[in-house]
Amino acid sequence: MNDVRPDAVIILAAGEGTRMKSTLPKVLHPIGGTPLLGHAMRAASAAGAAQTVVVIRHQRDRVAAFVEDFSARVERACTIADQDEVKGTGRAVECGLSALPADLTGTVVVTMGDVPLLSAETLGDLTRAHVEASAAVTVVTSVLDDAKSYGRIVRDADGNVERIVEFKDATEHERAITEINSGIYAFDAAVLRRELANVTTDNAQGEKYLTDVLQLARTAGGRVAAHVLTDLWQTEGVNDRVQLAELGKELNRRTCERHMRAGVTIVDPDTTWIDVDVSIGQDTTVLPGTQLVGATSIGAEAVIGPDVTLTDCEVGDGAEVRRAEGTLAVIGAGATVGPFSYMRPGTVLGAKGKIGGFVETKNTTIGEGAKVPHLTYAGDADIRAGANIGAGTIVANYDGVGKHRTVVGRHSFVGSNSVLVAPVEIGDGAYVAAGSAVIDDIGPGQLGVARGRQRNIEGWVDLRRAGTSTAAAAHAAAQLPSPEPTPDSSEDTQ
Ligand code: UD1
Ligand code: CA
Repeated sequence: MNDVRPDAVIILAAGEGTRMKSTLPKVLHPIGGTPLLGHAMRAASAAGAAQTVVVIRHQRDRVAAFVEDFSARVERACTIADQDEVKGTGRAVECGLSALPADLTGTVVVTMGDVPLLSAETLGDLTRAHVEASAAVTVVTSVLDDAKSYGRIVRDADGNVERIVEFKDATEHERAITEINSGIYAFDAAVLRRELANVTTDNAQGEKYLTDVLQLARTAGGRVAAHVLTDLWQTEGVNDRVQLAELGKELNRRTCERHMRAGVTIVDPDTTWIDVDVSIGQDTTVLPGTQLVGATSIGAEAVIGPDVTLTDCEVGDGAEVRRAEGTLAVIGAGATVGPFSYMRPGTVLGAKGKIGGFVETKNTTIGEGAKVPHLTYAGDADIRAGANIGAGTIVANYDGVGKHRTVVGRHSFVGSNSVLVAPVEIGDGAYVAAGSAVIDDIGPGQLGVARGRQRNIEGWVDLRRAGTSTAAAAHAAAQLPSPEPTPDSSEDTQ
């Protein structure tokens, strides 16, 4: 029975989520870089559900657009079902069923779009327990110290689940029960369809309660079972932004743990934030204050951090990135970045290349072994293999109207404090004199000098700054004997 899968999963996501106080639908708020609903869709898909239906109503177009988009990222596409004006979880499931084949048999699992930590493994365990017990309904329950306003699990004298009573409908005695309904269930499809038709809105909230199906199924002779979960986080839902942060933190803790167990050193998981889709190779070290966001992938034996934020970046094996920010950048194997580097989209740093301190790059390729070590802006440039860009170089890529490209050839050397005014091409093996404003191409092997030639004007200080301490210093310097090399001076100054 290892390969038991749900025949369908219905994800409830029609609720309003008013406590989020947000214009964004609750189920689209992300944790770990993925909207809450995405986590639920992924769990359903990974549990091997043959079909998944997402029931929506509140802000339906925005949620539907997300479901369609995210469907492409899970193994099996999800179907959308619209809930009508009848309220309640029972009605939501009824609407979900109507999007499935009318003759569907087997196990229908119901989950919620705002419960992000529920794992595919738990869905699998639930389905297996349900099928093995030949149950009509199996409800996932937990025992809580503070059962809050959850529905309570009422058991009979023999300990069998009898029914679920909603907090608002419960007696004092029932409210004292600490076993709660997580809102996640496995149903026999036929029983679910049949009994939902018998559910009324005769309760404190005037809603069609899904929970009523349990008692109806039992009365009709079906078995109602409980699947007790001790990992309480898995059934925890998000109702407000405080819970969003709590679940986000717990998800991150679990993500960090997964990477550490796979051979990544994370020095401080408390200050390291890793999105669920990030991949990290073995023996990489992640230092405190690091955020790895989106589809970022890090190779093996790299060092990332401290204080690095990488969004949708690709980092090669053995690279080192310290105190840096990057988006849509590629960092080659063995390359070094930082501290204080800003890599904007389209930055491609070759193997063993370097982007150093106070360097900003955008849409720029830096070839293998090429170095941009200090205080530089490089935009729309091809800096080819082995080139060296001196401190303070600016690639002026924008002329106020359009952007143009700049090429620095292989093993060329750009002197400090130069401006390369695009479009301009510096050939392979060329030099740019320090302080140049380069507006014309420089050929291979040439030295380009593009600045005023130096003049030293004799006696200028005496003439223009007489009586100042500068003039006095100049006079004193003129009195000094010119230094003569002493024999064996190197030994004297040991
Ligand atoms: C429900 C359960 C309760 C359980 C709790 C767990 C019922 C009647 N009660 O309570 O026993 O302890 O979940 O969190 O089922 N939804 C819809 N359409 C609706 C109403 C809700 O899709 O008409 C969705 C919501 O978006 C949400 C989920 O169902 O994802 C649960 O809804 P919520 O209103 O939070 O249920 P509770 O009344 O808290
Ligand atoms: Ca709830």
